[in-house]
Amino acid sequence: KTNGVAVPTSAPASAQDSTTTDADDQPLFSNSLISPEVSSSLPEGYTVRPLRRSDYKNGFLDTLRVLTTVGEPTLAEFNARYDFMYSRNDTYYILVICNEAGTVVGTGAVIVERKFIHNMGLVGHIEDIAVAKNQQGKKLGLRIIQALDYAAEKVGCYKCILDCSEANEGFYVKCGFKRAGLEMAHYY
Ligand code: ACO
Repeated sequence: KTNGVAVPTSAPASAQDSTTTDADDQPLFSNSLISPEVSSSLPEGYTVRPLRRSDYKNGFLDTLRVLTTVGEPTLAEFNARYDFMYSRNDTYYILVICNEAGTVVGTGAVIVERKFIHNMGLVGHIEDIAVAKNQQGKKLGLRIIQALDYAAEKVGCYKCILDCSEANEGFYVKCGFKRAGLEMAHYY
């Protein structure tokens, strides 16, 4: 079930390119999955859109650094991972919020899991929500979650779930989530 979202077989440019091309500005997934309501409720000049390859040089990784360790991926490493996701873009939905200058200041992802249970149900896993430190408190986090919820529902998910720290519980409650279950982890 692809839910009407085209599944390309290859990314628009090779992972080795070192210069930015028009293809690097193609969206990771269809713009039609971006909520018009969220777009119109952002601060003046801000935009929400799918991730692009060119966001490597546009603040995406720095935004993720407010969340956790990112490392220093090379452009080729970044592009290879991007290309993997692009080839499965009925599964990986990563979006960004940009400021007036077009720089990424917020990001979030939903990964769509396909199940046998619940009548071949689809479940959205919300991951890697981050808002740049100097942009927090402007409802950008809320808008990211609303945009991910919209995309997940539109592609057919019956629910979205996520893991978070106790410190962030209040934020997700404000976004309409409620505590359900307990996370377990086994690190390797
Ligand atoms: N605890 C309780 N309430 C909170 C918290 C919190 N930690 N953070 C925000 N809120 C409230 C706000 O006060 C606001 O309430 P209001 O509507 O009454 O005014 C509401 O939640 C919406 O807040 P936003 O302004 O949208 O929050 P922000 O843009 O600052 O983003 C976020 C919140 C994403 C947690 C941001 O602080 C951040 O990037 N933190 C560091 C990275 C992080 O912890 N990410 C989440 C990891 S969990 C995961 O990725 C699944």
